[in-house]
Amino acid sequence: TKLDMELAAIEKGGYDHFMLKEIHEQPTTIFDCLRGRLLPETGMIKMGGIEANIEALINAPRIIIVACGTSWHAGLVAEYLIEETCRIPVEVEYASEFRYRNPIIQKGDVIIAISQSGETADTLVALENAKEQGAFIFGIVNSVGSSIARLSHAGAYTHSGPEIGVASTKAFTGQLAVITMMALKMAKAKGSISDEKYMNLLHELQAIPEKVAAILKNTTGIEAIADKYKDATDFLFLGRGYNFPVALEGALKLKEISYIHAEGYPAAEMKHGPIALVDENLPVVFVTTRDRFYEKIVSNVQEIKARKGKVICIASEGDTVIPEMADDTIFVPDADELVGPLLSVVPLQLLSYYVGLKKGYDVDKPRNLAKSVTVE
Ligand code: G6P
Repeated sequence: TKLDMELAAIEKGGYDHFMLKEIHEQPTTIFDCLRGRLLPETGMIKMGGIEANIEALINAPRIIIVACGTSWHAGLVAEYLIEETCRIPVEVEYASEFRYRNPIIQKGDVIIAISQSGETADTLVALENAKEQGAFIFGIVNSVGSSIARLSHAGAYTHSGPEIGVASTKAFTGQLAVITMMALKMAKAKGSISDEKYMNLLHELQAIPEKVAAILKNTTGIEAIADKYKDATDFLFLGRGYNFPVALEGALKLKEISYIHAEGYPAAEMKHGPIALVDENLPVVFVTTRDRFYEKIVSNVQEIKARKGKVICIASEGDTVIPEMADDTIFVPDADELVGPLLSVVPLQLLSYYVGLKKGYDVDKPRNLAKSVTVE
C-alpha cells in the first residue's frame, strides 16, 4: 500500500536503499563504537569485557577467531593486528569448518567469535563445542542480546545499529573498530607496543570517522567507474598486508550485490594462477594505499598493465604515481596501515552498490542470500 511504501521510505532516511544508507551511516556508527571507549586525551581505552579478562587474553597461548562471511574477513584483519601488536599467535577459522574438524583447543586458548547477527548457526555451534572443551569465548557482536552474545563469557558490542541490507557494510567497519581497540588495549597491557606507537594509533583511530565522511562526500567518481565496468563478467581484487582482507571483502561485496564473478587474492599470489585470466576485459581492483608494501604493489600493478588488464586503484590522497598507471583511481585519506582497512573498504562497498544498482538488481535483498544464516 501507499502507507507501507511511505514507511519504507522513511526508514531508509532519504536513501534509495538500506545498503546505501548504511554505507553513509559509517562515520556515525564508527564514532558511536569508539565513543566512551577510545580516550586519546588520557591514553586510555575503556572496554569492560576486556578489562575484566585481561590476564586470560594477554596470556593466551593462542587465539582462534571463528566467523563466517564478512565477519570472517574482519577476523583476518584481527589476525594481522593482534599478531603484530600483541605477539600472540592467531588463527582465523571458518566456523563451518572449525565445528566439524574436532579442533585442537588447549588450556588457555581464547576463542574470539565475530558476528553481526549473533545468530549464525555455524558460528553458534562452533562456539558451543569450544565452550564445552573449556575455551574462553569472547564475542564481538552487533546484535544486543543475541544467541552468540549470550553464549560468550565476555565481549564487546560493535554498536553499529540494526543492519538491514543483506550485504554487511557498517557492521564490518564496526567490527574493525572494536578489533583495533581490543588489540591496542591488550598490547598496552602486555607491554608489546611502544608508548609512541600506541598513542599514535589512538589518534589515528579517532580520526577515522571524519576520514570516512570525507570519502562519502563525493561518490560520483565511484559511480562513473561502476558504470564503466558494470558489464564485465569477472573481477579480480588484490591487496597486501592489512589490505588483503579488504580485497577479499571487495570481491565478496561485488559477488553478493552484482552477481559478477569476483575473486580476492593477496596481490603477490596473483602470479600463481589469477594472472592467467588477465586480458583487456578483466578489471583488476588494487588497494594501493601508502603502507609498507606500497613499492611492491606498484610493481604488481605494472605487471597487470603489461598484460593489458584494466586497473582500478584505491590510492592514498596525494599519490601521483598510481594515477599515471591505473585506468581509474579512487582516493582515500592517508592513515596508518593498521587502521587503513576502515577507509579502503568504503569505496569497495560503494563500487559494488553502484554496479548492482546499474544492473537493476535488488541490492538490499540479493537473490539466494539471507541476512542471517540460521541453518547450516
Ligand atoms: C550472511 C550475511 C553476511 C554475513 C554472514 C555472517 O552470509 O549475508 O553479510 O557476513 O552471514 O553473518 P554474521 O551475522 O555471523 O556476521
